Amino acid sequence: MDFMNVYLEEYSANEAVQKYVSDSAGSGIAHLLQHVYGRLYEEQIDKIVAQSGKNVAFRVLEYGCGGGMNLIWIVKRLLDRQLKLDFACGTDFSAKMVEAAKKEASSCLPRNVSDKVSFHTVANENLDRDLPKELGRSLADLQNSFHLIVGVNTFRYCFRLASQAKSAGDIFSLLRPGGCSIMIDMNRSFPLFRSKLRPRFDTPKDQRYLPSLNEYDAVFRQAGFEIETKTNFCWVPHSAGPGMVTALRTLAPVLQTLFHPFAMRSLIVARKPL
Ligand SMILES: C[S@@+](CC[C@H](N)C(=O)[O-])C[C@H]1O[C@@H](n2cnc3c(N)ncnc32)[C@H](O)[C@@H]1O
Repeated sequence: MDFMNVYLEEYSANEAVQKYVSDSAGSGIAHLLQHVYGRLYEEQIDKIVAQSGKNVAFRVLEYGCGGGMNLIWIVKRLLDRQLKLDFACGTDFSAKMVEAAKKEASSCLPRNVSDKVSFHTVANENLDRDLPKELGRSLADLQNSFHLIVGVNTFRYCFRLASQAKSAGDIFSLLRPGGCSIMIDMNRSFPLFRSKLRPRFDTPKDQRYLPSLNEYDAVFRQAGFEIETKTNFCWVPHSAGPGMVTALRTLAPVLQTLFHPFAMRSLIVARKPL
């Protein structure tokens, strides 16, 4: 089985899907969306409004979206702030995840935006080829048009498939000048990931590969981005229960000050130059 199929099989299992939809994903991700990732998204929404004015009609993409929790959060925020949405789309190579995301969107978002939010089975390495087909738009209409593109816990697979430069290039070409890419993924220096505590030696090393923060930075820089933020952050696991969230959110500021290179996630906020 090639690498792509190994990951596709992993993310097509029902148990995997349950981890990436809001009802069953855990309190950790709900906290992060509200207070940690959400703050990053909000900051970029503010910058786009400052750049383009309050009447800007947002185009947003989440690649490797799983159950679409990040995209749905962003759409809700735009609605809460009475900002305009042109359209928002989520992509994932797992048709099961895409189905779950569609269900999640229809239960979490008001009906009047449902025609503006869509999910599609597209691989991170084929965004430029397959997104236009899926959206029924030309590539020229999509290029240089997105305000915000996010990818959470998915870019490491681009490295494992050796397609990181292609994916970063596609993200760059889809963003409008001044638009922003937010990439969040596992930090290889965090010592307590389950995969580190209980390594599966039957999984080939290449399939467990975690890029360094510098590698993430380099691939976005080489695609043409200006890097706005490059750091390790986040002390709450997505799957944490309510008790763990309360404990870790209290400790997080101290942990971040003293030990940030060992935090759970790598973060690259990258801007396409104006
Ligand atoms: C750890 S999950 C994260 C899901 C979602 N971003 C979230 O944070 O809830 C990783 C996701 O990346 C997707 N994925 C992995 N490799 C991919 C690829 N090459 N193209 C598109 N999606 C991919 C998986 O199907 C899965 O939904």
